[in-house]
Amino acid sequence: MTGPQDPTVPTGLALTPRNPEYQKDPFTLLDEVREAGRVIHDPLLGRYIVSRYDDVHAILNDRDLAVDPRKAAEGTFNQIFRARREENRTPSMLFLDPPDHDRLRALVTKAFTPRSIEAMRPRIHEIANELLDAVEGQETVDLMAAFCQPFPTIVIAEMLGVDPADQADFKRWTDDSVAAGFDPFASEGTKKKAEIAGEQFQAYLRKAIAERRAAPRADLITALLHAEDNGDFFNDDEVLSMISLLLAAGNVTTTDLLGNGMKNLLTNPDQLQLLRERPDLLANAVEEMLRYEGPVTFSGRITVDEREIAGCPMHTGQSIALSLGGANYDPRLHKDPHKFDIAREDIDHVAFGGGRRYCLGAPLARLEAQIGIETLLKRLPNLRMAEQELRWKTVPAFRGLEQLIVEV
Ligand code: HEM
Repeated sequence: MTGPQDPTVPTGLALTPRNPEYQKDPFTLLDEVREAGRVIHDPLLGRYIVSRYDDVHAILNDRDLAVDPRKAAEGTFNQIFRARREENRTPSMLFLDPPDHDRLRALVTKAFTPRSIEAMRPRIHEIANELLDAVEGQETVDLMAAFCQPFPTIVIAEMLGVDPADQADFKRWTDDSVAAGFDPFASEGTKKKAEIAGEQFQAYLRKAIAERRAAPRADLITALLHAEDNGDFFNDDEVLSMISLLLAAGNVTTTDLLGNGMKNLLTNPDQLQLLRERPDLLANAVEEMLRYEGPVTFSGRITVDEREIAGCPMHTGQSIALSLGGANYDPRLHKDPHKFDIAREDIDHVAFGGGRRYCLGAPLARLEAQIGIETLLKRLPNLRMAEQELRWKTVPAFRGLEQLIVEV
C-alpha cells in the first residue's frame, strides 16, 4: 500500500456473501480490489488483502508466514476468527504451523495416498451412476440435493469405512460444523447447532477408532491409525481431528465445484456443447471451473516478524487475506478472465492454495469432479437450466449454490 487508499474500494462485509451484489458477482468486486493496489487495508475486518496472481502465488509459497491464529495480533481477522472457534479441541493441521503441521501432514500423506484415491475410481463411477438412477423419470431436479451434495460425502465416507446407514448423520454433522467453524459471523443458533453436531460426531468417531484399534479393517481410518513416519504415529485425538478435517474440507468444497461447474456449463451452452463433442477436454474443463468459479475465494496467512508483504511494510501478527478469486481473474495472467473457456490453454490458478499447505485433497477433488461431470453429461443428454433466481451460500470465503434446479 502506498499513499492513502481510495475510500471507494470495497472492503469489509462488502466482500462477503452478506452483500447481495457480491453474492451475485464476486469477481467484479474482487477485480476492483485487485486493481486498486497490491495490498489493500481492510480495517473493519482487521486484514490486508492481496489479490494479484504473482503476489498471491509468492505469499502462498512463503515458508516464513504462519496460519496458527494464536500468532495473530489483537483485533486482526485471524485473532477474531480464532476467538469464535471451538478452542477446547485438538486443532486441525489447517490451523497449525511447523513443526506440528509438517509432522501431521507427513503422517496423513502415508495413509491418504494417490494410490488409495486411484483405487476408488471404479467405485466413484458407480456412486455417480447410482445417484443418477434415482433421478430417472423426474422432469425437474435440484442438482445440488440430488447429486452434488451426496456424491463427495458418500465417496469420502466409503474411503473412511463409515457404515452407509450412518452417512446422512455424517453429512449433517459436517455441514453444521462448517457453517459455524468457517463463518466468523455465525449466529448463536448456528454455533449451538455446530456444538451439538461436534459432540455427536466426536462420540461417533471415538467409537469407530476404538473398533478399528481392536480389529483393523481395510479402510482409511485404520490406515490413519497405522500410518508411520520415522517411528512416529498419530494419537487417537489427532486421528479424530484429521478425520473431521478430511470430511469438512472435502465435502463442502467438492460439492461447490460440481455445482458451480455445472451452472457455468448450463449458462454457457456453447461450452456445454463443446464438452459433449470433445470429451478429451474434460480435465481442462475442470481446471477452468476451478479458475473461473472455485469453491474457496479467500485463504490466509499471518506475519511472524516485521517485514514487507507485496511491497507493503507490516508488523508482526498481521492477517493477510489472499484473494484466490481475485488472483484467478488477474488479466496479467489470463486473457479475457471473465470468459468461461474450457479450451483455455495453460490454465494457472490458485484455487487449491499453494506451498506446503497446498490442498491435500486436490487429486481426489479433481477425480470426483471429472467423473461427476462426465457421468452427468452422459446420463442426462437433455440437461437444461430451469428458470430460477440463483441462491448462494453465505459462508464468507466460500462460493457455492444452495440449489441448482435443472430440467432433465
Ligand atoms: C474442489 C475442491 C477443493 C478445493 C477448492 C480446496 C481448496 C483448498 C484450499 C484453498 C486450501 C488451503 C491451501 C492454502 O492456504 O495454501 C485447502 C487445504 C486443504 N484441503 Fe482442500 N480443497 C478441495 C477439496 C478437498 C478435499 C476433497 C479434501 C480431502 C478429502 C481436502 C483437504 C484439504 C486439507 C486437509 C487441507 C489442509 C492442508 C494443509 O494445511 O496442509 N480438500 N484446500
